[in-house]
Amino acid sequence: MSKLEDIVSLCKRRGFIFQGSEIYGGMAGTWDFGPLGVTLKKKITDEWWKYFVESRDNAYGLDAAILMNPRTWKASGHLDTFADPLVECKECKSRFRADKIADSITESVTTEEFLETHTKCPVCGKENWGPIRKFNMMFSTHVGAVLPEDTDENPELAEKGLAYLRPETAQGIFTNYKNIVDTIYPNIPFAIAQEGKAFRNEISPRDFILRDRECSQLELEYFVHPDNWETEFEKIYKDFNNFFETRMGLNLSDINHLEVAPEDRAHYSKRTVDYMFNYPNGEEELMGLAYRTDFDLQNIQRESGKSMEYRDKNTGETFVPHVIEPSLGVERIFLAVLSTAYTEDEIGGEKRIVLKLPENLAPYRFCVSPLLKNKPELVEKAKEVYSSLREKYGNVTWDDSGNIGKRYRKQDEIGTPKCIVIDFETLENNTVTIRDRDTTEQIRQNISEL
Ligand code: GAP
Repeated sequence: MSKLEDIVSLCKRRGFIFQGSEIYGGMAGTWDFGPLGVTLKKKITDEWWKYFVESRDNAYGLDAAILMNPRTWKASGHLDTFADPLVECKECKSRFRADKIADSITESVTTEEFLETHTKCPVCGKENWGPIRKFNMMFSTHVGAVLPEDTDENPELAEKGLAYLRPETAQGIFTNYKNIVDTIYPNIPFAIAQEGKAFRNEISPRDFILRDRECSQLELEYFVHPDNWETEFEKIYKDFNNFFETRMGLNLSDINHLEVAPEDRAHYSKRTVDYMFNYPNGEEELMGLAYRTDFDLQNIQRESGKSMEYRDKNTGETFVPHVIEPSLGVERIFLAVLSTAYTEDEIGGEKRIVLKLPENLAPYRFCVSPLLKNKPELVEKAKEVYSSLREKYGNVTWDDSGNIGKRYRKQDEIGTPKCIVIDFETLENNTVTIRDRDTTEQIRQNISEL
């Protein structure tokens, strides 16, 4: 099995991630996070929030609606440009993203350029392609009392309730920029942060949770003076390297900072650095850091007729701020964390799988167990320790299943840094065994010092 398959198997076996709607045969591009997965995901997003919002005096949070007025997507350019090149195999009718099956082409490929690549269909192996068509990736829906048959018979009615699931959380921030400026009066530069779901009708969802149809984003929009964008860009660039290394436990040697060529940048960007992560099955974008200029605020100003100007309280200068955006996918950072932590080693001649997660991300900080579950005096003492640790730390788990060796293996696999065992010596001198996940070394410590 490849390392990615091992991780997928661990995720299912231990309740981190299940296939979306698995019981009905699944739904491509959707994933359900189980009890351990949702805890890890929450810890990742909480760390991001603490690092980029709570610990700064110029960052503000937001939780905007997923359904937005469709004018949002007209102004943002998503209706016209948020499209992938779709190509269909004329033999087996399978559809693909042209730039993902032929290595040497970009998203702006023409049919002629694609045909020159002589790519074979990954499904039927033939080379008989239709023309490249642009496929808009936004999911549409109808808001209000519009029946499916109405939309066939009455295009006007269909248009009336038409709405889209947001393809990026960023637009919720841009459309609330004025509300925040008018209520909080922030000093520039300032950031608005949002965590939430984004939806993209990906042509070929793939690579486990890396390319989904429903994903979560952690987005920050930094509003800066137009003259200062380069300095601010560099600061944010460094901050994220530090965040990935010190809070997420990633090795910077696994991140390749890719300066994106102008023809490959999103329609709104004048400079983009993609943080490419070395995943088990190859390099993929972990985060994009983009200089969005005043593209979005100018578009909103035009579409809404409302001024997006910011007035500097100190200098009196009035201008439309420029924006720098680090946009991080939760599923992508989740898999980067998991694949960095996933380790196989040998303990006493026995193969072991261990998730060497940083302590701040481990779903459980401690596991408490009685050495034997059929000894009431041990169970009672262990419950006492468990309750007091739980009260203090919250994320503590209880395990009295199987023998102690099996419990250690299970806790290693889910990344619990310390296992605390209550044994007969505990009853005599109030000390417990603490086993370290990474070294497997055990020490004895007094309960009062835990
Ligand atoms: N607001 C800017 C924006 O959305 P993007 O490069 O399209 O830019 C930002 O997406 C990040 O969101 C990516 O770097 C990636 O981490 C994540 N992402 C994008 N599409 C995704 C998908 N289909 N599945 C999982 N994550 C995705």
